[in-house]
Amino acid sequence: MIALQENLILVGFMGTGKSSLGRLIAKKTGRRFVDTDQLIVRNEGREISQMFKENGEDYFRRIETSTLSSLRATGGQVIATGGGIVTRPENTPLLHELGFVVWLQADEEEIFRRVSRNSKRPLLQTENPRKTISDLLASRRSLYEAVCDFSIDTTHFSQKQAAEAVISEEIRRLSVQN
Ligand code: S3P
Repeated sequence: MIALQENLILVGFMGTGKSSLGRLIAKKTGRRFVDTDQLIVRNEGREISQMFKENGEDYFRRIETSTLSSLRATGGQVIATGGGIVTRPENTPLLHELGFVVWLQADEEEIFRRVSRNSKRPLLQTENPRKTISDLLASRRSLYEAVCDFSIDTTHFSQKQAAEAVISEEIRRLSVQN
């Protein structure tokens, strides 16, 4: 295990593997794994889909921003964020303040395949989820690109390969800084 102290923040569309990869990277580098969606569900005592239904997306977005903000006090975290974190401009400085921001990418087809396994995501409860994914991706791609310090396409990577690529980049950056 290589011990790393910096916060690592994973951003990217639903189904790009932020949580599973985040958990693996945290384990490999001795950091605490944090998932903003999970924190929100725990604090609110209800599912995200329920929040969307009862209070609307805007409510969820406000909680998401304050959750992100609350993580700034701590280091040594690998943070998986919700896919829509980039849609609120006020999250950009928070993400940068937190640490190293990595954008996980995957092909649209692969994303559709992965999210089809789980029907809980409120934004995909539409008549044509395939088109919703395509439209959301088109509107968000430039936002992920603008906010990230580094990006990796996970489509043809195993979890292990993707984790190693991200960790190598973190180590490379640290050695350049020092
Ligand atoms: C969302 C993605 C979800 C969750 C919420 C909204 C989005 O997280 O935060 O349903 O706007 O893309 P995942 O990216 O972990 O699925």
